[in-house]
Order: sequence, then C-alpha cells, then structure tokens
Amino acid sequence: MSEYIVRFNVQQRIEHLVTMVVFALLCFTGLPQKFYTTGWAHVLVDVFGGIDNTRAIHRFCGVVLALSTVVHFAMALNTIVGKRTRLSMVPSKQDFTDAIGTLRYYLGVADKAPPFDRYDYRMKFEYWGLVAGNIIMVLTGFVLYFPTLAARVVPGEIIPAAKVAHSNEGLMAFLVITIWHIYNAHLNPDVFPFDTSIFTGKISRERMLHEHPLELARMEGKSLADLGHGHGHGHADAGKMG
Ligand code: HEM
Repeated sequence: MSEYIVRFNVQQRIEHLVTMVVFALLCFTGLPQKFYTTGWAHVLVDVFGGIDNTRAIHRFCGVVLALSTVVHFAMALNTIVGKRTRLSMVPSKQDFTDAIGTLRYYLGVADKAPPFDRYDYRMKFEYWGLVAGNIIMVLTGFVLYFPTLAARVVPGEIIPAAKVAHSNEGLMAFLVITIWHIYNAHLNPDVFPFDTSIFTGKISRERMLHEHPLELARMEGKSLADLGHGHGHGHADAGKMG
C-alpha cells in the first residue's frame, strides 16, 4: 500500500482547474477565428452558437484569465511577505546545474539523475513561460478588445501589431500546452498514464522519493542517504516503482 503526501492545497488545485478550463475555452473560441476558412473552425463556431457568441465567450474568458493572473500574484505576494512559503518557484543557479546533470544522465555520461526539490527546472520553465505568455495575451487581448481606447493611449500601429502577436502567441501557447504539458502530465514514464496530483492534491511517497527527494528529506527531517535515495534510482526506472 502506498503512502500519500499532500502536494497541492485546495487553492492551488482550484487555480489549476480554472486556468485549465478557461485556457481550453480561449483556444476553442480563438483558434477558429484565426483559421476561419477551415471546416473544423466552422464546426467549433457552430458548437458555441455562432460567431457572435464565440467572440463573446472568448472575451469573457479573457477577462477571467486576466483576473485570475492578478489574483494569483496578489496571493503569492501575500504569502511571500508573510513568510508562509519558500521561494520554491524562483529560478536559481542550481536549476542550470540540474539541467546539465539531467542531460548528462540521459546521454549515459552520468549514472544518476540529479535529485530535485519541490519544483524541478522544467516545472519552473513551464510556470514562468505561462506567466510571460499570459501577460502578452492579456495585454494584446485588451488592445483588440478596446482598440479605440488603446489608440488614444498608444500609437495606432500597436493595434495591428497586437493582432499579429495575439494570434501567433495564441497558436504557440496552444501547441506548447498540447505537446509539452500533456507529455509531462500524461505520457512521461514517471506518471503514465495520468498524473492526478494537481486534481486530488495527493502524490505517493514513492513518487516524492524519485521526483522530489530534496523536498521529502526536508519534510521528514532526514538526509538523502537516510531516505535511501541515490542507489542508482534515476528517472528512467522511476515509472516501475509507482
Ligand atoms: C492564452 C489564451 C488566449 C488564446 C489562446 C487566444 C487566442 C486568440 C486567437 C487565436 C485569436 C484570433 C486572432 C486572429 O484572428 O488571427 C484571438 C482573438 C481575440 N482575442 Fe484572444 N486568446 C487568448 C487570450 C485572450 C485574452 C486574455 C483576451 C482579453 C480579453 C483576448 C481577447 C481577444 C480579442 C478581443 C480577439 C479579437 C476577436 C474578437 O474581436 O472577438 N484573448 N484570440
């Protein structure tokens, strides 16, 4: 029987769910506007009840995404100022060392993958990529939403530029999430067929031992050696342990 550890609190699970649903709706209502000549675009627009509804849903979800980004940072700032969290998502020099260490392990040059803390370098990269992408999508989205207002504040050339940026960044965000994020959450051998931790909040102690040994050691007040980590347990064989 596996032991379970709480990895994500209720607030983090709700934030993920909201982002997931809103982002999916933004893709389903935004991309058919970009590829409006295709058959699938027409099917999707019909599903959402016509082009006026599709645009209205896109704008509504855009506002929700903007608000959720603001709320996320306000809450993060609050916990950081109140010293109720470690700065676990901030990139550090160790992340670069870990990235090189992992590459060496994948190439067979090193016999062990580096041990990670609460978030590994890939998770941090994905998180900050999403933050940067959200800021671009929200800023350019609002320029498209209120073009006459925007033209009063910034030069008018910004409007077609915002359209190109929004359109292409939107497609890229969709591809990054479907290819990269779905791989990490579903197809990666460590978690295949599906990583449920962000929905249930729970993760098995075995997975913590393999994927976040430094955090587990801190939680249990032990050293990596006490945990029995590092006897050739790399990421490649972690899937067999789950
Ligand atoms: C990350 C999520 C988002 C994705 C994937 C996305 C995607 C898209 C795409 C592909 C288009 C069509 C562009 C074209 O015609 O070439 C579009 C249009 C548009 N988007 Fe977004 N978008 C996102 C977020 C937002 C946000 C946050 C807002 C802000 C309210 C917004 C507001 C708009 C507006 C106003 C349009 C023009 C179409 C219209 O007038 O309804 N979008 N979006």
